[in-house]
Amino acid sequence: MKPGYRMVDATVGDGGHATALLETTAPDGRLLGIDADPGALERARARLAHYGERVTLINDNFANLQRTVEEHRFQPLMAVLMDLGLSSWQLEAAGRGFSFRENVPLDMRFSPEQPLRAEEIVNRYPLEDLARVIATYGEEPQARRIAASIVRHRPIRTAQELAKTIESAAPRRGRHIHPATRTFQALRIFVNQELENLEAGLRQAVAVLAKGGRLAVIAYHSLEDRLVKAFFRQEARDCLCPPRQPVCTCGHRASVALVTKRAVRPSKEEVLQNPRVRSARLRACQRLAPGGAG
Ligand SMILES: C[S@@+](CC[C@H](N)C(=O)[O-])C[C@H]1O[C@@H](n2cnc3c(N)ncnc32)[C@H](O)[C@@H]1O
Repeated sequence: MKPGYRMVDATVGDGGHATALLETTAPDGRLLGIDADPGALERARARLAHYGERVTLINDNFANLQRTVEEHRFQPLMAVLMDLGLSSWQLEAAGRGFSFRENVPLDMRFSPEQPLRAEEIVNRYPLEDLARVIATYGEEPQARRIAASIVRHRPIRTAQELAKTIESAAPRRGRHIHPATRTFQALRIFVNQELENLEAGLRQAVAVLAKGGRLAVIAYHSLEDRLVKAFFRQEARDCLCPPRQPVCTCGHRASVALVTKRAVRPSKEEVLQNPRVRSARLRACQRLAPGGAG
């Protein structure tokens, strides 16, 4: 990162990464900070206020990244960062039912504009659909048993009630993680359409970056990380024709070069300082010129 660069923090959250980006591009680097959660954006606004006009903050989903960047004439763009998932504030203090310790309604939306709340899935979805959501987005082996228990205990109003219901159906068996972890993850991903938005955000990030600009993504679970890995690999390849086809007919040309060959994981010291980063996986790529040259 160099002075004067334009950068997007597509998940500005509490403004921690944004601060680091602004410091490394001082005195005149500019940052467009995006967050789907208006509460998070207010926190970022307070924290980044002293950077003045160097910072523009937008309450939107990064699935609209290209439109946002173009509307704010934020090109040439040299960096896009996506630090996925939810912030510590959302987990612990936002009162939306993200944490199974909270005695609050099951909301789980990042943005109040989203129509679907977790409560509706938990209390209204038929057993089969509920089990499918938990299996698909939580990769929970006991999805059906958990879904059946939820259906038996309806109505379930709070995050704590849901966690207790799950614990009674799938008790801890020496596992380190709480038995409700995967189900809560599944509900959150489904409510916020996280995988669909990530796919759209990645595509648009590559489309708006200038030659040499970098896209870095931090994922916190395997569904996200697999999607990022597959997208980067595909974008870094010339030709997507089947392996035995003698002549390329697809015309696909690499749009990025991989900066990280494998995911970068946090050091032991980082995990000790902040245990929540233990599952983090960072991947980065660099935009090639359109057409794949240089
Ligand atoms: C892990 S936190 C980011 C923390 C931030 N990097 C920091 O240093 O404070 C993730 C943030 O991304 C936001 N978010 C998640 N999905 C989003 C999406 N599709 N579009 C915009 N913001 C999103 C969440 O609301 C949350 O504030």
